[in-house]
Amino acid sequence: MAKTPITFMLNDAEKALFVDDGAALIDVLRRGAGDLTPKQGCAQGTCGACTVLIDGVPHLSCLTLAETVEGKRIDTTGGLASGPNLHALQDAFISGFAAQCGFCTSGMLMSAKELLDANPNPTRDDVIEAISGNLCRCTGYEPIVDAILAAAVRLQGRSA
Ligand code: FES
Ligand code: FES
Repeated sequence: MAKTPITFMLNDAEKALFVDDGAALIDVLRRGAGDLTPKQGCAQGTCGACTVLIDGVPHLSCLTLAETVEGKRIDTTGGLASGPNLHALQDAFISGFAAQCGFCTSGMLMSAKELLDANPNPTRDDVIEAISGNLCRCTGYEPIVDAILAAAVRLQGRSA
């Protein structure tokens, strides 16, 4: 199988890899770049577990051809924390019991991050819309929505 050289930024690290033609981005991230944080659930664009940000926009990495990220920046949950300090979203998910089995959590966090980057003061409906492509079969969604709203409050330095 032919291979294509690609370079891209993964969180804050430059990556230069050869990828199989037609390879899915999630496979390149997990197997080639060693970032296991994007999860593969359905592999057909339905569950959202594989959501990553490409140049700040959420994409399903199971449906994204790896060769299309040449020169782009990819953000994953693996880059959310700053050293030992978790991102406010991660803290809120933990303290709010918004992760149970955790399989959806990585994709949820990236959809939530894009929302809070674009709209630091979202309404509850904004949050529900932002995670509408991310399926969770454990939580009933309410703790997740609450956690994202709590993180928004914290990031803005507001009191709840
Ligand atoms: S693994 Fe990509 S949408 Fe389910
Ligand atoms: S916490 Fe299990 S699928 Fe969401």
